[in-house]
Amino acid sequence: MEIIESPEQMQDRSEALRLARHTISLVPTMGYLHEGHLELMRVGKKHSDKLIISIFVNPSQFSPNEDLDQYPRDTAGDLEKAREVGVDVVFLPSAQEMYPEGFQTNVQVKGITEQLCGISRPGHFEGVTTVVAKLFNITKPHMAVFGQKDFQQLTVISQMVMDLNMDIQIVGVPTVRDPDGLATSSRNKFLNEEERISALSLKKSLDLAVEMFRGSERDAGVIQKAIESLILSHPHTEIDYVTLCNPVTLKDIETITDEALLALAVRVGATRLIDNCVLRCDSDKIISKS
Ligand code: PAF
Repeated sequence: MEIIESPEQMQDRSEALRLARHTISLVPTMGYLHEGHLELMRVGKKHSDKLIISIFVNPSQFSPNEDLDQYPRDTAGDLEKAREVGVDVVFLPSAQEMYPEGFQTNVQVKGITEQLCGISRPGHFEGVTTVVAKLFNITKPHMAVFGQKDFQQLTVISQMVMDLNMDIQIVGVPTVRDPDGLATSSRNKFLNEEERISALSLKKSLDLAVEMFRGSERDAGVIQKAIESLILSHPHTEIDYVTLCNPVTLKDIETITDEALLALAVRVGATRLIDNCVLRCDSDKIISKS
């Protein structure tokens, strides 16, 4: 497994791989790798013959009051996990190399970034799209893999790729959960024992919504209220949003006619967690993905 720190060297390496007619997958990460990341890597590996991952805690997607300094880091552990999965190249740049003095470009997707996490995390998606566009230009992948847990991020990146004619296939991978149902996340490490129990209210909410939907409830407000009271019945929880929206436009919906994204953001203690599922009505069948 190669480790490359310089963007220029990474570009040269990717160019050589392309000239040798290899197909390249990229899994962009901020490190502190967990089972969810490893699943993205397995998918990337399956669909291409060279797998690149990036490990970079991107400062521009954190606002000043967020947890950039506390964000967990474990480079040695990450490299070990990447090796085990069979990663070919790890791109591990410094902030200085990614944002040298004089840097002054931002990539901004409008519209869909103004909903959900875009409301409580202003500037976040601009940071994400800017760094992801850079990572695409540096690693030159044919395909890039992202988790569906960050549903809005996946939607925003797909929109950027479409709008800017980037020749990259974006693949979304279903959320990986711990045995108790909690969606895997690097931030789960911050939950103490009591908070972790409260954090299960997110998956319980998705299950409750599916159950209500199966029972023919189509009023988004009714489902939303039921979920809010379920979450708030657990200690240490504070709701950022519980939203039922159109999975494409991310605009709020009042009545579910066809399908709806149920997206949650909840602070449990000091840790902000997100989760989601899609409620879908296909003729008589009800499908839910989470
Ligand atoms: O999902 C993440 O870990 C980050 O937002 C990403 C896509 C690696 C960009 O920094």
